[in-house]
Amino acid sequence: MQTALDDSRFNIIAQSYEYAIATYPDARKDGDWLISSMEIKEDDTILEISAGTGFLTEKIIKNIKSGFLYAQDIAPRTLELNQKKCGVHSNLKYITDIDAVKDNSCDKSVTLGGWHHMEDQISITRSAMSKLKKGGTFCVGDFSDNSSIQRYFDEVVDDITSTGHQALFPSKSRMINLGRFAEASNTEVEEFDVPFDFKNEDEVGEFFQKVFALDQPHEETYKDIEKYFDLQHSEGMISVMVPYIYARYTK
Ligand SMILES: C[S@@+](CC[C@H](N)C(=O)[O-])C[C@H]1O[C@@H](n2cnc3c(N)ncnc32)[C@H](O)[C@@H]1O
Repeated sequence: MQTALDDSRFNIIAQSYEYAIATYPDARKDGDWLISSMEIKEDDTILEISAGTGFLTEKIIKNIKSGFLYAQDIAPRTLELNQKKCGVHSNLKYITDIDAVKDNSCDKSVTLGGWHHMEDQISITRSAMSKLKKGGTFCVGDFSDNSSIQRYFDEVVDDITSTGHQALFPSKSRMINLGRFAEASNTEVEEFDVPFDFKNEDEVGEFFQKVFALDQPHEETYKDIEKYFDLQHSEGMISVMVPYIYARYTK
C-alpha cells in the first residue's frame, strides 16, 4: 500500500537536500540507533521506507551480501539520486510502492526521517509489519514531537521554503499506540537528542539552509538554528542537538 499524500516537496528539494548530505557526510548521526538496533545480517532481506537520496541505503547495502534491499520512496527524483550515490547492485531494487514487496518476506524494515510525512501512520505501520516474517523487526526514526525542531519547522521553515512544511512529528505515546494497532509483539521506544556536528557557524548555516531548501542566506539560517536549538561547543566543533524519537517493533 502506498500512503502518498504529496510527493512534490522532495522531488523539488532533492538536489538541494543531497548537496547538504554530500557536502557534510559526517554531520549526521541520526542513522546510528537504527543501524545498531537492526542488527543486520549479511543474508537479510530488508525494506527501507522513505529511503530518499540514500543516506541510510548506503549504510545498509554495505552490510548485506547475499541478502536483498528494497529502497522505497514516493518521490522518484530522490531514488534517482539514491542510485547515483549507491551504484547499481543486483541485490538492491528501487520501488515507489511498498506493495511491490511480498507479505511475510522481509527480515527487517526501517525508515528514517519520513514518518511525519505519512498521512495514515496506522496503515503504513500495519503495511510495513505485514512485509515482515514472524519475529522480524521494523525500526523507525524521526524528529520528536513537542520539541525545538517541531517549533523550528512550524515557525520558520514552513514560511521560507517554496513547498512549505507542515507535519506532526511522532510522540512516545503515538509510537506505542502504533505498535498496538499493528499488533507488534514487542515495542521499544527511545527519545534523545542526536548531535549534528560541524566545524563552524558557516557550515551549520549552509547545511540547514540546503537540507531544507530555505529561501534565505545561510548566515540567517545559522541565527535561526542558534535561536531554536541547543548548541554544544567542544574541541573546536559545534554540535546542533536535534531531538529524535526511535521505535523498534517486533512482529
Ligand atoms: C527527510 S527525507 C528522509 C530521506 C532519507 N531517509 C534520509 O534520511 O535522508 C523524507 C523522505 O520521505 C519521503 N516520503 C514522504 N512521504 C512519503 C510516503 N508517503 N511514503 C514514502 N516516502 C515518503 C520523501 O519523498 C523523502 O524522500
